[in-house]
Amino acid sequence: MGSKNKLKRFRENETFSNVYQPTRDELVNAAFQLKGNWNSKVFKNNYPLVLELGCGKGEYTIELAKRYPNKNFIGIDIKGARFWRGAKTAIEEGIPNAAFLRTQIELIDHAFGQNEVDEIWITFPDPQIKYKRTKHRMTNATFLERYKSILKPEGVVHLKTDSEFMHGYTLGLLHGAGHEVQYANHNVYKQEGSPAEVTEIQTYYEGQYLEKNKAITYIRFKIK
Ligand SMILES: C[S@@+](CC[C@H](N)C(=O)[O-])C[C@H]1O[C@@H](n2cnc3c(N)ncnc32)[C@H](O)[C@@H]1O
Repeated sequence: MGSKNKLKRFRENETFSNVYQPTRDELVNAAFQLKGNWNSKVFKNNYPLVLELGCGKGEYTIELAKRYPNKNFIGIDIKGARFWRGAKTAIEEGIPNAAFLRTQIELIDHAFGQNEVDEIWITFPDPQIKYKRTKHRMTNATFLERYKSILKPEGVVHLKTDSEFMHGYTLGLLHGAGHEVQYANHNVYKQEGSPAEVTEIQTYYEGQYLEKNKAITYIRFKIK
């Protein structure tokens, strides 16, 4: 995408009522008013709150929001020009239970309060295979601690990825640390048993992986 187009999207994001872009300072200095208050201040109801981390264009956020009008969805990504797509769709189609937050996932526990979140979807995260990139891997022990701090005790995490490495790494880590793996499938379109929402919604990146005949994997787990 050209830089002119990106700028246009950034400007449009500023005008969207469903886009939230706190500064890093606001988040780390605990000045972010929505922390702990997303349902009361943004959605104005008490429905379960579901996050999509690294949402890209926000396919899961939008499609799940349409399927589950009694849940609230927030797509989170650092790249505003990407989630612009989802935010615009939500506005055009009048989807009231979808919003978008621009932040680094590293700051997630500054954007949400303890026990505020019911479910987390992680969709096609960068696997960060190199050893020195481990700290950026979105299912490492530090990230799991962050997720645990914002999830309700019964809260679950969904990981969908094309990366065999990410799938195996996450399963190994979950088993090793005694977390609860509720379901795992290493080829969701070939091996039966996946929940409908795993096989009926495809993300932008997923479409590209499917064209290359890559297996898509899925894990649902609870952090102990
Ligand atoms: C491979 S893309 C997948 C996007 C989308 N989920 C999909 O499947 O089409 C990974 C996304 O995660 C975002 N991302 C990566 N690391 C991040 C971080 N630390 N904080 C926020 N977003 C991040 C990137 O901007 C990118 O949009």
